[in-house]
Amino acid sequence: MSTTRADLEAMDAADPLARFRDRFFVPEGITYLDGNSLGCLPKAALDRLDETARVEWGRDLITSWNVHGWIEAPLKLGGKLAQIIGAEEDEVAVCDSTSVNLFKLVAGALSLRPGRRTILSEPGNFPTDLYILQGLVGLLGDRAALRTVAAEDVVAAIDDDTAVVVLTHVHYKTGRRHDMAAITRAAQDRGALVIWDLSHSAGALAVDLNGCNADLAVGCGYKYLNGGPGAPAFLFVARRHQAQIVNPLSGWMGHAAPFAFVDGYEPAPDIRRELCGTPSILAMAALDAALDLFVEADMDQVEAKSARMCDLFIELVEARCPELTLVSPRRSTERGSQVSFAHPDGYPIMQALIARGVIGDFRAPDIIRFGFTPLYLRYTDVWDAAEAIGEVVGTRAYDRAEFRKVAAVT
Ligand SMILES: Cc1ncc(COP(=O)(O)O)c(C=O)c1O
Repeated sequence: MSTTRADLEAMDAADPLARFRDRFFVPEGITYLDGNSLGCLPKAALDRLDETARVEWGRDLITSWNVHGWIEAPLKLGGKLAQIIGAEEDEVAVCDSTSVNLFKLVAGALSLRPGRRTILSEPGNFPTDLYILQGLVGLLGDRAALRTVAAEDVVAAIDDDTAVVVLTHVHYKTGRRHDMAAITRAAQDRGALVIWDLSHSAGALAVDLNGCNADLAVGCGYKYLNGGPGAPAFLFVARRHQAQIVNPLSGWMGHAAPFAFVDGYEPAPDIRRELCGTPSILAMAALDAALDLFVEADMDQVEAKSARMCDLFIELVEARCPELTLVSPRRSTERGSQVSFAHPDGYPIMQALIARGVIGDFRAPDIIRFGFTPLYLRYTDVWDAAEAIGEVVGTRAYDRAEFRKVAAVT
């Protein structure tokens, strides 16, 4: 028997995560399926921003670095985030952007594997990941080389010259999920390290970095973690690597004694050495409040709801739209918290959906992408989105000039 809206209403009524929706501002009349690009605003983040601006900045000014613990923010937030990605508290720092953190950790990985030159990745990885690798290789000349091979060939391509494998755990376009444990083990068996980009995993899946014996990782704060536009990113360095890894962006916040103001750089002995300059405290405040929600949530429940929502979405959309081609893996264990479909008119289809209040996004050349955020979405949202997609595609309501005008951000 096929699924009905009443079935989904019953699932919402039984959902152990349903209580979190009210902790967010979710705009009325909008079905928001783009939390994999920018998460919704947590109500507590708005209060925290207000408090941090008015009291900490407005009244207590410079004393806040000590009085309100601003100086500890990168590690304090790192400790919270560690709990939801399977790391120890002292293995994660919140700082900089994902791009910058990747630069630091790839250079750091090369420093941990002297004599090896190859950085291995896959074509079609998120552009910034590839661009950062290209930039670093350009800087290092003969001392590093970038090699990209298809995802299924990565393990076989790891050889004696491979210093580090750089992969995005969940692919931004297709939602395909790599087997973190298996790839990490295969790389380590050949003496290489792996850096996982968790941008599309953290906050959506029950990531278990230490369970996989991961070496290094980076990720975004503004997607499933709901830290706000341009939120600080994070990085993970397994404790066993912290005393040796070199941070090429040797700024004063990574110094063993930043307030000694000495001329010579001496790295902090721990994760602090991965910091560079002064953190953006207002942005940290918003992310801090957003992370508190995850500390309350059970990540196994989050991942289970994500899988269920995506499975339902695939079933309901495919039943309505034979014109769309599923690009994401059908099996939830091989997928992150998003579903992508291909259609030659993907761009106008997405614009027509947005005009109807169903917000996803478009990734060139032909992919419409829908992200599922278990903390604030309802199962009935899955139904409503599928109905809207069925109507827009089935009636070709997207076939209008206004929906074909391409905006700067897609
Ligand atoms: C896999 C991945 N890495 C990195 C980024 C972005 O990095 P940054 O925050 O430095 O722009 C994104 C953004 O969508 C992403 O999908």
